[in-house]
Formats: sequence, C-alpha cells, structure tokens
Amino acid sequence: MTQLVVHPDRQSFIDGSADFIAELAARAIRERGRFTIALSGGSTPRPIYDRLAAAVTAERIDWSKVQIFFGDERCVPPDDSRSNYRMAREVLLDRVPLLADNIHRIRGEIDPAQAALIYEQELHSLFRTSTFPAFDLICLGMGDNGHTASLFPGTAALREKERWVVPQYVEVMTTWRVTFTAPLINAARDIAFLVEGAGKAETLWRVLEGPYQPDVLPAQLIQPVRGQLHWLVDAAAAARVQAA
Ligand code: 6PG
Repeated sequence: MTQLVVHPDRQSFIDGSADFIAELAARAIRERGRFTIALSGGSTPRPIYDRLAAAVTAERIDWSKVQIFFGDERCVPPDDSRSNYRMAREVLLDRVPLLADNIHRIRGEIDPAQAALIYEQELHSLFRTSTFPAFDLICLGMGDNGHTASLFPGTAALREKERWVVPQYVEVMTTWRVTFTAPLINAARDIAFLVEGAGKAETLWRVLEGPYQPDVLPAQLIQPVRGQLHWLVDAAAAARVQAA
C-alpha cells in the first residue's frame, strides 16, 4: 500500500513527519518490545529529527527500546560536517536517552567495502535472520535526480539482489558512499520518503506518475514486499502531482 500525505506548509510537514515517526515508534514498542529505525541523511530530515527530540514528541517514546541505524553514509569521519551520523547526533541522538549500544553508525572513516561488510554483520547480529530483515521504519530522502539513500542513477548498487549493504562510488560526486540496498529497504514494515520543497516537484511527479525507469529514477525501486510505503511531503513538493 502506498500513501501520499501532503502537508500544507513546511512547518506542518516537519511536525507531521515527527509525529508520524513517534506514533510508529510507540506502536512497535507496544507490539514487539523495540523500535528499529534507519535514518536518512541530507538536509530535509534535520528539522524533523530536531522536532522528534523536542519534549512534546520525545516524551512519547521509550528511547531505551529504540535501535538507531543509518540507510546510507558518506565516506567521511563521524565528526565531518558532511557526515549523516554527525547531523543526526547533533539534532537528535545527543538529546534523547538512547542507549549508546543501540546507536549503530556506518563507519564512514574506513575503507567503504570494509564498512559495508561490518555493517551487514551488525545487522545480522541484531536481527538474527539470514533473509532480509524487517526494519520497523526506514526513512528515505529523494534527490532531485531521483536518487534515494545512496542508490544513484546508473550505478551497480541498483542491481544488487543479495547484499544488504554495499559500497558505491558515485561518479557525479566523485566520492564513495555506503548504502542499504533496495531489497533490504523493501523488506521493511514501513518506509517513509521525506520530501520537501518546490525543487523536488518535477522529480516527485516523474517518480510517482511517470514511466517506470528505476535506472534513471532509483526512488522507483522502493516498493515494499509486505510493508507500507508513505510519501510525506509538503505542498510545494506535491505541486505537479496535485496539478496532474
Ligand atoms: C544522503 C541521503 C540522500 C538524501 C537526498 C536528499 O546521504 O545525502 O541519504 O539520499 O536523502 O540526497 O537530500 P536533501 O534532503 O538534502 O535534498
């Protein structure tokens, strides 16, 4: 099932997305005793994580039962300004009572292939399964070129069918990334795209309503096997979709 939620403005998008995450967290902890979430990087989620850490939202979550992962990472040290881990730490992880052992960052400072292998092993030891594990929630962004996590147009990672996490050299950015693969993402119970701003309107319309061309628009690869897909967007990003 795919759900498109259009928030009228930026602030309601931020508050509504933080509420969405808090509700899923409370439900997962009630039903399964823990909440496993993979955070997305980039600029869009930063104010949402900030809102999630604010007392009005944070008090609804038993943070001792939360396991934090990252859907992708830039291959930089954890204190680098480009690090997704650093961004999340500053606005969320350092501000809520998470257990240190429950924060699982991708080691962007080491060899990308090694970092991907280590992260897969960490996932295997937490989920104790040989099949793709079901995260409670995987948060994703969408680049204006249609990439998501670090699944970029025309890259080998798009065709991965076995691995859970892979290293990926991104030519257009002349940099390495480590990323969840589409099969791992698609095994989640809930997947939430967080997309905001007029700059994403054309791409969102092509991804949702255009021809299926995942090699060009990797966000189209995200189709949960059993779970639910949520597009949480603001009106500016949904302008073309709603006009259609
Ligand atoms: C990253 C992200 C990436 C991001 C998109 C959108 O590490 O950069 O995981 O997939 O979500 O690039 O980024 P913005 O939110 O900054 O537009």
